[in-house]
Amino acid sequence: MLAKTPPMGFNTWNTFGEEINDTVIRETADAMVKTGLRDAGYEYLVIDDCWSEKERDPKTGKIVPSRKKFPKGMKSVSDYVHSQGLKFGMYSCAGTRTCADYPSSYGHEFLDAKTFAEYGADYLKYDYCYKPAHYDGDIMYRRMSLALKASGRDILFSACNWGCDDVHNWIRSTGVHIYRSTGDINDSFPSMRDIALSQVLNLPYAAPGCYNDIDMLTIGMYGKGNVGSSGCNDTDYKTQFALWCMFASPLMLGGDIRTFSNKTLKLVTNKRLIRINQDIEGRPAFDVSMRTEKNADGEIKTVVSNDLAKVYFRVLSDNEFAVLFVNFDEREREICFYMTDAGLPIESGYGLKMTDVFNGRSIGVKKEYMSRRIAPHDCECYICKLSK
Ligand code: GLA
Repeated sequence: MLAKTPPMGFNTWNTFGEEINDTVIRETADAMVKTGLRDAGYEYLVIDDCWSEKERDPKTGKIVPSRKKFPKGMKSVSDYVHSQGLKFGMYSCAGTRTCADYPSSYGHEFLDAKTFAEYGADYLKYDYCYKPAHYDGDIMYRRMSLALKASGRDILFSACNWGCDDVHNWIRSTGVHIYRSTGDINDSFPSMRDIALSQVLNLPYAAPGCYNDIDMLTIGMYGKGNVGSSGCNDTDYKTQFALWCMFASPLMLGGDIRTFSNKTLKLVTNKRLIRINQDIEGRPAFDVSMRTEKNADGEIKTVVSNDLAKVYFRVLSDNEFAVLFVNFDEREREICFYMTDAGLPIESGYGLKMTDVFNGRSIGVKKEYMSRRIAPHDCECYICKLSK
């Protein structure tokens, strides 16, 4: 298994929480095909926490799928998901119980990995609740990583330790393919804003093989579901999608796909944004206000401005670039991108030829700077090429 680009798919947690079952999964698989999401690249259908019985089978020691929620067993669900041309994902946890208090994989890693392989799993999300204090987190992820490799199936390994314990320093070495670098999202603008702002100095740790995961999307939830909160409006969701794409995060939809409006579908299947997210070079975006500063002890620190009007820039493959203007503020802001901050001084003679990712329109070549008036919570995003 090689995570060349961030995975795309759907995860049950944000909308369904404990209310998952065979029907929900089959209907979601159908909806992923019918809406065109699968063909747009959303290939994983992942069942999160709460899928099992409360205790393991006393004879085999195996985790048992809930008889009530999944009466036909997990292999049958997985076969259905595969029959729709999708991939199937499961959930477990590194501790003694999962976060929602179901059996977890600590001390059972090799058996559980084998069980997930028997189900036909292609993806495992691995949480961090109830981790035994006498074990460091890295060894927990190393164990399951090796157990998955021994399982006989190619399984994408998705770690979820919420950015704790300096995870960015050791996670790549464990064999994990994506790792949560933030706490849990909820469906509100402050939640997605704070996640985005907290991640800027983490972005360089993402690269092909192992990407930072800034959590499942809440697009299309409008306050409904398990992590409902106050909900967002379409402007907030537009900005959320642009940020997740720019930050090379996995794109795991968390809204109820069965009820997605055409507007929501149009946003999450935007080819230009997905092209940015899936760029094969996997280079990090950066905040153009980023600078290195020496503190009183002469130590060099990387700092970014705490202004809520942001410009992010990203170098893509094929000599292309992406620039994202985001207004995290509660009032309209004039946001100015000085191209010299991205390495393009006026003396070079070059400017950037800009195509708006949301409507595909070219706005011509901009030189030296580009200034936009942007409404609260809104964004503008461009793919660009150098041009004289
Ligand atoms: C943790 C994770 C969430 C979700 C829940 C399930 O909070 O961060 O994404 O998996 O557990 O209980």
